[in-house]
Amino acid sequence: MEQGDFNTAKELLETTRNFDIVKIKAGLDIKMYKEILEEVEAKFPFYKKDNQETYEGLALQYYDEDNPYSDGVDQASGSKKLGDYKDINYQDYLKVGTEHFDSWQYDRSKLNDAGKMFQPFFDLCEEQFPDLHLYRARLLKTYPRHFCLEHVDEPKSLRIHLPIVSHQWSIMYFLDKPYYLKADGSLYLCNTGHKFHSFYNFSSKLNRTHLVVNAKLKSDLGTYTVG
Ligand SMILES: [Fe+2]
Repeated sequence: MEQGDFNTAKELLETTRNFDIVKIKAGLDIKMYKEILEEVEAKFPFYKKDNQETYEGLALQYYDEDNPYSDGVDQASGSKKLGDYKDINYQDYLKVGTEHFDSWQYDRSKLNDAGKMFQPFFDLCEEQFPDLHLYRARLLKTYPRHFCLEHVDEPKSLRIHLPIVSHQWSIMYFLDKPYYLKADGSLYLCNTGHKFHSFYNFSSKLNRTHLVVNAKLKSDLGTYTVG
Protein backbone atom coordinates (compact mmCIF):
# COMPACT_ATOMS: atom_id res chain seq x y z
CA MET A 1 0.00 0.00 0.00
CA GLU A 2 1.22 3.47 -0.89
CA GLN A 3 2.41 5.59 2.04
CA GLY A 4 2.16 9.32 2.63
CA ASP A 5 2.23 11.98 5.29
CA PHE A 6 -0.30 14.55 6.43
CA ASN A 7 0.57 16.95 3.61
CA THR A 8 -0.39 14.30 1.11
CA ALA A 9 -4.13 14.89 1.52
CA LYS A 10 -4.10 18.38 0.03
CA GLU A 11 -1.86 17.28 -2.80
CA LEU A 12 -4.14 14.39 -3.64
CA LEU A 13 -7.22 16.58 -3.82
CA GLU A 14 -5.48 19.28 -5.83
CA THR A 15 -4.12 16.98 -8.45
CA THR A 16 -5.64 14.27 -10.53
CA ARG A 17 -3.08 11.79 -9.37
CA ASN A 18 -4.18 8.23 -9.72
CA PHE A 19 -4.28 6.46 -6.38
CA ASP A 20 -6.45 4.05 -4.42
CA ILE A 21 -5.41 4.37 -0.80
CA VAL A 22 -2.59 6.28 0.86
CA LYS A 23 -1.63 5.15 4.33
CA ILE A 24 -0.41 7.72 6.87
CA LYS A 25 1.42 6.08 9.72
CA ALA A 26 0.01 8.56 12.19
CA GLY A 27 0.88 6.63 15.34
CA LEU A 28 -2.50 7.34 16.93
CA ASP A 29 -3.32 5.81 20.28
CA ILE A 30 -5.60 3.07 19.02
CA LYS A 31 -6.22 1.73 22.53
CA MET A 32 -7.64 5.11 23.51
CA TYR A 33 -9.86 5.17 20.44
CA LYS A 34 -11.10 1.66 21.20
CA GLU A 35 -12.06 2.82 24.68
CA ILE A 36 -13.86 5.87 23.30
CA LEU A 37 -15.67 3.64 20.81
CA GLU A 38 -16.81 1.31 23.59
CA GLU A 39 -18.13 4.28 25.56
CA VAL A 40 -19.94 5.64 22.53
CA GLU A 41 -21.43 2.24 21.74
CA ALA A 42 -22.69 1.89 25.29
CA LYS A 43 -24.38 5.28 25.10
CA PHE A 44 -25.71 5.60 21.56
CA PRO A 45 -27.42 2.95 19.46
CA PHE A 46 -26.21 2.64 15.91
CA TYR A 47 -28.52 2.88 12.92
CA LYS A 48 -29.01 0.17 10.36
CA LYS A 49 -27.58 1.53 7.17
CA ASP A 50 -28.21 1.13 3.45
CA ASN A 51 -31.06 -1.23 4.18
CA GLN A 52 -28.73 -4.01 5.15
CA GLU A 53 -28.83 -6.03 8.37
CA THR A 54 -25.06 -6.28 8.40
CA TYR A 55 -24.24 -2.58 8.18
CA GLU A 56 -24.67 0.08 10.87
CA GLY A 57 -23.56 3.60 11.37
CA LEU A 58 -23.63 6.46 13.80
CA ALA A 59 -23.30 10.06 12.69
CA LEU A 60 -20.85 12.15 14.66
CA GLN A 61 -22.12 15.43 13.32
CA TYR A 62 -25.50 17.13 13.44
CA TYR A 63 -27.93 17.78 10.78
CA ASP A 64 -30.34 20.57 11.62
CA GLU A 65 -33.36 22.26 10.08
CA ASP A 66 -31.23 23.91 7.42
CA ASN A 67 -29.59 20.64 6.72
CA PRO A 68 -32.15 17.99 7.44
CA TYR A 69 -30.79 14.91 5.77
CA SER A 70 -29.39 11.98 7.58
CA ASP A 71 -28.03 9.73 4.80
CA GLY A 72 -29.24 6.75 6.78
CA VAL A 73 -27.06 7.49 9.75
CA ASP A 74 -29.00 9.59 12.19
CA GLN A 75 -27.50 11.81 14.80
CA ALA A 76 -26.84 10.33 18.17
CA SER A 77 -30.28 8.92 18.87
CA GLY A 78 -30.36 5.91 16.66
CA SER A 79 -32.51 2.88 16.17
CA LYS A 80 -31.78 -0.72 15.36
CA LYS A 81 -34.97 -1.13 13.36
CA LEU A 82 -34.69 -1.21 9.60
CA GLY A 83 -38.06 0.59 9.41
CA ASP A 84 -36.55 3.62 11.11
CA TYR A 85 -33.89 3.89 8.50
CA LYS A 86 -33.83 7.34 7.00
CA ASP A 87 -32.35 8.31 3.73
CA ILE A 88 -32.76 11.02 1.21
CA ASN A 89 -33.77 9.91 -2.21
CA TYR A 90 -32.79 11.60 -5.41
CA GLN A 91 -36.20 13.22 -5.95
CA ASP A 92 -35.94 14.95 -2.59
CA TYR A 93 -32.48 16.06 -3.57
CA LEU A 94 -33.84 17.75 -6.66
CA LYS A 95 -36.68 19.43 -4.77
CA VAL A 96 -34.33 21.36 -2.56
CA GLY A 97 -32.26 22.52 -5.50
CA THR A 98 -28.60 22.81 -6.15
CA GLU A 99 -27.98 25.48 -3.57
CA HIS A 100 -29.24 23.31 -0.81
CA PHE A 101 -27.57 20.30 -2.27
CA ASP A 102 -24.35 22.18 -2.01
CA SER A 103 -24.81 22.86 1.67
CA TRP A 104 -25.89 19.29 2.17
CA GLN A 105 -22.41 18.42 1.09
CA TYR A 106 -20.74 20.95 3.29
CA ASP A 107 -22.73 21.98 6.35
CA ARG A 108 -21.86 19.11 8.59
CA SER A 109 -19.11 20.41 10.74
CA LYS A 110 -20.82 20.56 14.12
CA LEU A 111 -20.02 17.62 16.31
CA ASN A 112 -22.92 16.00 18.10
CA ASP A 113 -22.63 14.40 21.53
CA ALA A 114 -21.12 11.21 20.14
CA GLY A 115 -18.75 13.22 17.97
CA LYS A 116 -17.55 15.26 20.92
CA MET A 117 -16.30 12.05 22.51
CA PHE A 118 -13.92 11.78 19.55
CA GLN A 119 -12.70 15.34 20.02
CA PRO A 120 -8.99 14.31 20.06
CA PHE A 121 -9.42 12.92 16.57
CA PHE A 122 -11.08 16.05 15.20
CA ASP A 123 -8.47 18.26 16.89
CA LEU A 124 -5.77 16.24 15.21
CA CYS A 125 -7.44 16.57 11.82
CA GLU A 126 -7.86 20.31 12.24
CA GLU A 127 -4.21 20.66 13.10
CA GLN A 128 -2.83 18.28 10.51
CA PHE A 129 -5.21 18.96 7.61
CA PRO A 130 -5.60 22.77 7.70
CA ASP A 131 -6.67 22.88 4.04
CA LEU A 132 -9.43 20.30 4.35
CA HIS A 133 -13.05 20.77 5.28
CA LEU A 134 -14.42 17.72 7.07
CA TYR A 135 -18.12 17.61 6.44
CA ARG A 136 -19.49 14.25 7.38
CA ALA A 137 -18.09 11.99 10.04
CA ARG A 138 -19.53 8.62 10.92
CA LEU A 139 -18.72 5.46 12.74
CA LEU A 140 -19.37 2.66 10.26
CA LYS A 141 -19.65 -0.88 11.43
CA THR A 142 -19.82 -4.01 9.33
CA TYR A 143 -20.95 -7.33 10.70
CA PRO A 144 -19.76 -10.75 9.52
CA ARG A 145 -20.40 -11.48 5.85
CA HIS A 146 -21.30 -7.90 5.02
CA PHE A 147 -20.69 -6.86 1.46
CA CYS A 148 -21.11 -3.54 -0.25
CA LEU A 149 -21.36 -3.41 -4.01
CA GLU A 150 -19.06 -1.29 -6.11
CA HIS A 151 -19.86 2.40 -6.24
CA VAL A 152 -18.21 5.83 -6.43
CA ASP A 153 -18.74 8.52 -3.78
CA GLU A 154 -19.15 12.23 -4.46
CA PRO A 155 -16.46 13.81 -6.64
CA LYS A 156 -13.62 15.97 -5.37
CA SER A 157 -13.74 14.26 -2.02
CA LEU A 158 -11.64 11.91 0.01
CA ARG A 159 -12.67 9.52 2.72
CA ILE A 160 -10.34 9.52 5.68
CA HIS A 161 -10.56 6.21 7.49
CA LEU A 162 -9.42 5.51 11.02
CA PRO A 163 -9.88 1.77 11.53
CA ILE A 164 -10.59 1.21 15.22
CA VAL A 165 -11.67 -2.41 15.20
CA SER A 166 -10.61 -4.53 12.28
CA HIS A 167 -9.20 -7.86 11.16
CA GLN A 168 -7.51 -9.26 8.12
CA TRP A 169 -10.76 -10.55 6.60
CA SER A 170 -12.14 -7.05 6.33
CA ILE A 171 -11.19 -6.00 2.82
CA MET A 172 -11.73 -2.85 0.81
CA TYR A 173 -11.45 -3.30 -2.92
CA PHE A 174 -10.61 -0.74 -5.54
CA LEU A 175 -11.83 -2.63 -8.57
CA ASP A 176 -10.10 -5.99 -8.14
CA LYS A 177 -7.31 -4.75 -5.85
CA PRO A 178 -7.78 -5.81 -2.23
CA TYR A 179 -6.67 -3.63 0.69
CA TYR A 180 -6.64 -4.41 4.38
CA LEU A 181 -6.77 -1.25 6.47
CA LYS A 182 -4.99 -2.33 9.60
CA ALA A 183 -6.10 -0.76 12.89
CA ASP A 184 -2.58 0.17 13.91
CA GLY A 185 -3.07 3.88 14.60
CA SER A 186 -2.76 4.79 10.94
CA LEU A 187 -5.06 6.94 8.87
CA TYR A 188 -5.99 5.96 5.34
CA LEU A 189 -6.85 8.43 2.59
CA CYS A 190 -9.20 6.65 0.23
CA ASN A 191 -9.88 7.89 -3.28
CA THR A 192 -13.52 6.90 -3.16
CA GLY A 193 -14.77 10.05 -4.88
CA HIS A 194 -13.11 9.08 -8.13
CA LYS A 195 -12.83 5.33 -8.20
CA PHE A 196 -15.07 2.32 -7.93
CA HIS A 197 -14.70 0.62 -4.62
CA SER A 198 -16.44 -1.96 -2.50
CA PHE A 199 -15.88 -3.53 0.88
CA TYR A 200 -16.44 -6.90 2.43
CA ASN A 201 -16.35 -8.46 5.84
CA PHE A 202 -15.42 -12.06 5.04
CA SER A 203 -15.24 -13.10 8.67
CA SER A 204 -17.95 -15.33 10.09
CA LYS A 205 -17.51 -13.90 13.60
CA LEU A 206 -15.78 -10.55 13.69
CA ASN A 207 -17.09 -7.00 13.33
CA ARG A 208 -15.23 -4.11 11.86
CA THR A 209 -15.65 -0.48 12.92
CA HIS A 210 -14.05 2.50 11.23
CA LEU A 211 -14.35 6.20 11.90
CA VAL A 212 -14.88 7.62 8.42
CA VAL A 213 -14.74 11.30 7.58
CA ASN A 214 -15.51 12.94 4.26
CA ALA A 215 -13.11 15.68 3.29
CA LYS A 216 -12.84 18.27 0.56
CA LEU A 217 -10.51 21.16 -0.03
CA LYS A 218 -11.73 24.32 1.71
CA SER A 219 -10.98 26.14 -1.51
CA ASP A 220 -13.51 23.90 -3.28
CA LEU A 221 -16.38 24.86 -0.97
CA GLY A 222 -19.39 26.01 -2.91
CA THR A 223 -18.00 24.96 -6.25
CA TYR A 224 -19.74 21.64 -6.47
CA THR A 225 -22.85 21.49 -8.64
CA VAL A 226 -25.35 18.80 -9.46
CA GLY A 227 -25.42 17.21 -12.86
FE1 LIG B 1 -18.08 4.59 -0.82
